[in-house]
Formats: sequence, C-alpha cells, structure tokens
Amino acid sequence: MRTLITNIGELTTNAAGSAAPHHAVQDAAVLMEDGLITWVGRADEAPGAEEIIDAEGRAVIPGFVDSHSHLVFGGDRAAEFEARMAGQKYAAGGIRSTVAATRAATDDELRARLRGFLDEMHAQGTTTVEIKSGYGLDVETEERLVRLAAEVTPEVTFLGAHVVPADYADDPEGYVDLVTGPMLEACAPHARWIDVFCETGAFSVEQSRRVLEAGIARGLAPRVHASQLGPGGGVQLAVELGAASIDHGTYLTDDDVAALAASETVLTLLPGVEFSTRQPYPDARRLIDAGVTVALACDTNPGSSFTSSMPFCIAVAVRDMGMTPAEAVWAATAGGARALRREDIGVIAPGYRADLVLLRAPSRIHLAYRPGVPLVERVWKDGVQVA
Ligand code: NIG
Ligand code: FE
Repeated sequence: MRTLITNIGELTTNAAGSAAPHHAVQDAAVLMEDGLITWVGRADEAPGAEEIIDAEGRAVIPGFVDSHSHLVFGGDRAAEFEARMAGQKYAAGGIRSTVAATRAATDDELRARLRGFLDEMHAQGTTTVEIKSGYGLDVETEERLVRLAAEVTPEVTFLGAHVVPADYADDPEGYVDLVTGPMLEACAPHARWIDVFCETGAFSVEQSRRVLEAGIARGLAPRVHASQLGPGGGVQLAVELGAASIDHGTYLTDDDVAALAASETVLTLLPGVEFSTRQPYPDARRLIDAGVTVALACDTNPGSSFTSSMPFCIAVAVRDMGMTPAEAVWAATAGGARALRREDIGVIAPGYRADLVLLRAPSRIHLAYRPGVPLVERVWKDGVQVA
C-alpha cells in the first residue's frame, strides 16, 4: 500500500547535498511504500496514494535513532537518585545492585519490562534503539540479556565489561579472562557490537583494549563508554580501534577532541546522564565547531539516566550544551544512525526506511522550545504506525 503524508509545513530530511547542513523543506510530502520511502518533494507535486495523511502544516522529522541504552535489567535505583539529588555523588559501584536484581528476574519479567520501555520509546518518537547487556556479569545472565535484546532490535551490544562484579573484586584480570573467553563465546552469536566501560573504577585502558580486541576477533564491532567520570585514555583507544562511537565524553581533553575530529568515530553525548548525576554538561558547541560528529542518545538505565525521551535529550542539549535545535535533531536522528554505522535510517529520502515522526508542532524548534510537552503525534517504523 502507498501512504502519502502531505501538507507537511516543515520537513527535516537530513538528506545529503541539501542546501545547508540542517536544511528543512517547507510545504512538503513524503510517500511510503512497502516499508520504504519512495518519493519526497513538494506537496503540490505529490503522486497519488491509497492512503493520504494530512499533516495540516505540522512538522515531520526522521524517527529518532537512540544509539545507547541498557533496557534489560531488574529493579530500579530510585533511592540512589533521591540521595544523589540530596548531594551524594554518582559512582559506578551502584551497577552491582542492579546486577543482583537482574540475576533474580526471570526471562519473562525482563521481557515484559523491555517491551514496556519500547512502547514508551515509540510513543516519544524513537524508531531504532541499540540495547546493551551489562547487568548480568556472569556467563548465563549475560547470554540471557543479549538474547532478550536480540528479540527486539538488531542493534545488540555485549557489555560484559560493564564493571567487575563483586565475586571477582579480588581478581579483575580473571574477570577480563571470563569476558573475553566463555562469556564472549556465549554472547557473540546474539550481538553486533562489543562495548566496555573504560573508566577509573571500571576497566583500565589495557583491560579495555583486551575486551575490544577479543570482540573484534569474534566478529563484533567496537563502541566504548569513556570519559564519563573524568578524563582518561578511552577516547584515544576508541579512535585507534576504529570504534563506531565513544559515548559519554563528559570530560574530554583537547587531544581527545582533536583525535575525534580527525576520525570516523562519532561522539555520542548523553544529556540525561549529566542531568541525573549533576555532572557538568559537555560543551557540544566546542565539539561541533572543532569538527567532531556528535550524536545524542538517552542511555536509558536505572543508575545514571532513567529517561527514555529523545525530545528531553534534545531540549537539554539545546538549553545546556550549546547545540542549535536543528543540530540537536540531526544528532538524535542522522547522528544516531552514524553512531550505529547504519546507511538505511536517520534520513528522509527515497530508499531509506520509512521511519518518521509527525510532530504536534509547526517546527522542530518546538522540541526544545516546549520541553516536557508530548509533541509526538504519530510515529511510523518501516512504514507501519507504531504510535
Ligand atoms: O552508561 N557508564 C556506565 N554505565 C551506565 C550506568 C550504569 C548504572 O549506573 O547502572 C551508563 O551511564
Ligand atoms: Fe551506558
């Protein structure tokens, strides 16, 4: 069936070769057919279709590509958040309490939770989500987490190297042996990506290198959590290994910025983390001006960032990180696609997947201008309405 969305007041295409980097088209229409976009142009030149949707002058943007989440876990850490808002510092050690709750949950409990998060993400305009393991930290549970994630997305990341679990506290190298050996063997068949938390209190640069190289040898592509709690060598390691993305980047040195700008590695900023941990926001303006490719993602997890809202992240990136609304929307769509090395999403142009969001607003600017307001009116993924 051919579906035409017409009378679009402002269409953000992210199409290469458009007049300006974040150019939006006025008075546009988009045709979808068999899950793909087959035509984009002026509304008054639109072809016929079996189904016509009148956008009534409102804005359409690509579906959000949320390239960083941890959606398979048990329990929550609301009390930890409350204590943090009262002055306590965020520490990676809290991950261990989620590990206990996750190990105790059944597959069906984790699956139901996961489906609930996906529904809430669709309702907020997300059409692609990457999901990491990392709250199992033993072979059996990590395998469960990547298997459950693979039921709902092709973008599955094995993050056995999230932190050293309590039972290996005295033998971190032994834990890296486990992650790069039997755990990787069990998880790799379900995953596309290998990730590591390269940070003081988690894994050193040398341990991170071992994890990433083992994953690469097993056919996984690298991405890295780094420089969340302080500067470190994770960014340079990510660039050296050709990682698709380094995520967090709250504390970057000038050398990190230069290395990123000269690389194909995307920097994925996670504004929900700074918001929920009261850390300083990274200066996205400085990074973009230096030539770094910036993506935005939610990092949905029970510890550092329990939002699943890309519109919220856009609003914070504009308000507190120096991005323009147009840059933030690009980073949350095409930027996320780059961070996942995907050539079929993040853009509204013929041949791309029909992943689109109709906003209840005349312009994408409203996503930052009206924070907290539910502006996502309708969402299509592969041409099928999901919200
Ligand atoms: O991406 N940085 C490490 N991992 C998660 C936080 C996990 C947690 O606190 O549970 C993150 O922020
Ligand atoms: Fe994360």
